[in-house]
Amino acid sequence: MKSIEYHLATRHFPNKYAKSLGYLDWANQPNPYKEYTNATKIVLPTPKAQDLHYEQLYLKNETQEINLQNLATFLRYSAAINAKKVVGSSSWYVRVNPSSGNLHPEEVYLILENGVYHFNSKDFTLEEIAKGENLVENGFLVLFTSIPLRESWKYGERALRYCLLDGGHLIASTRFSSNLLGWEMEYINDIDEEALSQLIGVHRANFYENEDEIFESAFYIYTDKKPTINFEKFQNLEFNLEYKKLAKDSIRWSIIFDTAKELKRIETFTTTLQNEIPKLLPSSFGAYEIIDNRRSALGFIPHDVEKEEFLDILDKTLPRNIPPFDVKVTLNSLDFVIFVNSVKGLEAGVYYFSRRENALRLLHQGDLSQDAKFVNCIQNIGKDSAFTINMVAQKPTKEYEYKLLNFEAGMIGQLLYLEAEAKNLRGCGIGCFFDNLITEDILNNDDYLALYGFSIGLPKVDERLIRV
Ligand SMILES: Cc1cc2nc3c(=O)[nH]c(=O)nc-3n(C[C@H](O)[C@H](O)[C@H](O)COP(=O)(O)O)c2cc1C
Repeated sequence: MKSIEYHLATRHFPNKYAKSLGYLDWANQPNPYKEYTNATKIVLPTPKAQDLHYEQLYLKNETQEINLQNLATFLRYSAAINAKKVVGSSSWYVRVNPSSGNLHPEEVYLILENGVYHFNSKDFTLEEIAKGENLVENGFLVLFTSIPLRESWKYGERALRYCLLDGGHLIASTRFSSNLLGWEMEYINDIDEEALSQLIGVHRANFYENEDEIFESAFYIYTDKKPTINFEKFQNLEFNLEYKKLAKDSIRWSIIFDTAKELKRIETFTTTLQNEIPKLLPSSFGAYEIIDNRRSALGFIPHDVEKEEFLDILDKTLPRNIPPFDVKVTLNSLDFVIFVNSVKGLEAGVYYFSRRENALRLLHQGDLSQDAKFVNCIQNIGKDSAFTINMVAQKPTKEYEYKLLNFEAGMIGQLLYLEAEAKNLRGCGIGCFFDNLITEDILNNDDYLALYGFSIGLPKVDERLIRV
């Protein structure tokens, strides 16, 4: 299968990383912000976060009207810029949703009743790329695409993995944000991806060389009744798709595009979720505060996490019919290899956590924090964390399932970021790991793929951060 070949071809080994340029070509870094040049811009109103408890991230909230004001709040807490990191004379913006290398390959589109819009995160506007009427009824659609060039500029062939993981993070951040407004969100499973990508004009776009944008996923968002899409109204839409070129010069990593086109969902699939509501440990932070405080830890200080907190975090990752998994885009087949470095009341060692069986099993006992560092590309966050998770899954049997597995990993990552903040800890996604050390050395099972890593612990203070 193409997707498995891709995954195997883009493994990192201690003596050989996946193919990339090998240095950062700063003169040709792609712009992380897409701007449509002929589109009318709608300035979004100032977002209004309600005062909601942490638990409300997962529980049902009072339904707010779908209007421009609430759309602004929705976007602000899904995908907007919310801070700046400053080091000496250089600074860069960071967003509510994380991204591998902060390169942000994802683009967000909305289809409202009266038009097709692109969310411009740089200036917090909606760009109207097509004007229409009665395009959707009873709610709206949100669609996600990615521009692999932004990631491949730095990471070469492994970049498609990062796009899909970032896509999963964005799905989950959008789900939490929609839930706080009392809005339902559901993956559009029964319309083929070609037809969905046509709704935002991807098929008509004239991309600059190597700047191809790949359709990833689409969701209904609604208050009571699932929206209907009036396909016939899209036939004569005039799209304004001209955009500012993203990079001066670029390299095409063909394996990315060859693989991406195989990943289109070709059938409807079923997501099985448990209906129980979990026990929710309280947090001293509010729901919006947690979303807004989410950042990647730049390092950890030695600290024992309580076993109760550790187990509570694992419990949240179970596939339940609550946010974020209730969007029904996951196959729920990811399990965890966990390096427990310092959890009070739990033996240090490597564990296997089966999410389907909700069972934690000790594989190797002892202080394996140095291994946790080594496995994760010799990054200190692996070692200094209280625990580091490496997400694994059995090889998929269908091409599109590979995409869903990566979405699931990203969604779990987003949930872990928020859970860490809720407990006054901090997390960090880990896209760089030596695949075989997990699947072969630890699991001794080459039927598995290693998909994503995540560390949690007590963070070093990040002096670089400025709220915007
Ligand atoms: C898919 C993914 C992979 C990542 N991999 C790593 C990693 O291997 N090492 C690391 O230090 N940070 C990693 N990060 C964290 C990003 O660098 C971070 O999200 C980005 O710089 C933006 O900062 P923020 O999360 O504070 O908004 C990863 C993030 C994501 C979403």
